[in-house]
Amino acid sequence: MHVDWSIVNAHPVMRRESVVGPGDRVNYVNLPHVIAMVGLPARGKTYIAKKLTRYLNWIGITTRVFNVGEYRRQATEAYKNHEFFNPNNREAMAIRNKCALDALEDMCKWLEQDGEVAVYDATNTTYDRRKLIHEIVCEKFGAKLFFVESTCDDPSIIEANLKEVKVNSPDYRNRNVEEALSDFMFRIEHYVKVYQPLDENIESNYSFMQVYNAGQKVFVHRHEGHIQSRIVYYLMNIHIIPRSIYLTRHGESEFNALGRIGGDSELSERGWEYAKMLAKYIKEQQIPRLRIWTSLLKRTVQTASGIIAPQERWKALNEIDAGICEEMTYEEIKEKYPQEFSARDSDKFKYRYPRGESYEDLVSRLEPVIMELERQENVLVVAHQAVLRCLLAYFMDKNSTELPYLKIPLHTVLKLTPGAYGCNIEPVSFPVPAAETYREKPFMPGHLEEIFHLKEGKELPLQNPDVQFL
Ligand code: SIN
Repeated sequence: MHVDWSIVNAHPVMRRESVVGPGDRVNYVNLPHVIAMVGLPARGKTYIAKKLTRYLNWIGITTRVFNVGEYRRQATEAYKNHEFFNPNNREAMAIRNKCALDALEDMCKWLEQDGEVAVYDATNTTYDRRKLIHEIVCEKFGAKLFFVESTCDDPSIIEANLKEVKVNSPDYRNRNVEEALSDFMFRIEHYVKVYQPLDENIESNYSFMQVYNAGQKVFVHRHEGHIQSRIVYYLMNIHIIPRSIYLTRHGESEFNALGRIGGDSELSERGWEYAKMLAKYIKEQQIPRLRIWTSLLKRTVQTASGIIAPQERWKALNEIDAGICEEMTYEEIKEKYPQEFSARDSDKFKYRYPRGESYEDLVSRLEPVIMELERQENVLVVAHQAVLRCLLAYFMDKNSTELPYLKIPLHTVLKLTPGAYGCNIEPVSFPVPAAETYREKPFMPGHLEEIFHLKEGKELPLQNPDVQFL
């Protein structure tokens, strides 16, 4: 393979020193990492790259995908046909190599400035290409490199991926569906001719894992350190069996009705009414193999009590611990602990209640729940406002600034249906009035207000535009 090293050498990049200031989010990455995808087209590489990125960002590791296909689309005229991917097309090969290097270079620069983990989403199907990546990422830049190869021989997975390409790929926009499919199949054939799967003998010094049929089986070779272990563990747990996750808060509690936070109160009359309606709704849905998860607190256990399905209690699903502010109203907190009250408003994600928890703590506490949700099929989670904000942020790919302000009203079920490239969210609200427990982010000049307020004073939407809360 011809490599234009002048492109690589034009912008030498050096590994940055790790700089963690007071208040910075704790993370687990001691060296920048590159995760390089490997595999034929339509093997779910982009699915894995995006899902992994969403997970790593959620656990607090700044991660970004660099997709070489996007670089190629920017560098070329509109896509014509599969001949561009013919390995004998020298002109196209030069463009493809340059795009691969440009993406690598941007990735290393980003890691040098802001990033912790970069996911290099490309086919990387040959020994030579992987050697080049290794040279640039490890020897030149000094980062850690982990290859993730997606191999797939399950026709239903390949077919689903092909369908996704036909529907979503900018290469085939406004093209006849049959023509697009046929071109894409020829394109895959070009890659098949040169494909060299990762080989533990030939590439014995690389760290890598191979994922078969989107998580059905994995093979791991020389994985190094904490971050790679977490990636392996995560990818071992995912599956693509169609299913839905239902999220709901408990019915209105006696403390909700009084405006008090935390505690372990019982359901109010209206809360019990919701519990009955929820049980009826779940029965009507006839959801196969449904499991119910609640916290250990009375209000979630009572809310789920009428539902006929196996139930599990999770301490990890208990509401955020408000420490010294437990069982108080917001007015009382403001009066008794004015500094705490305003500190929470200025950074709600990191703020930790004295002798209690922060949202950041909650995300860590909920990681095993997310991992188990990934493994399960249909689950109804009956939990609490702060807890469900964290879970919803994971599925909706919301960042830590948006997370503590996600709206999760009482007496509403959110039906989440994860798909290949995103999660469909359908809110179902029940006609039982409930206390309003949502506190808007107050206007605080100098505190990231641009994220929440447009110049004209309008609010930016915090929700997924597809989600309409009634
Ligand atoms: C593409 O150009 O769409 C993919 C490039 C690659 O082979 O990684």
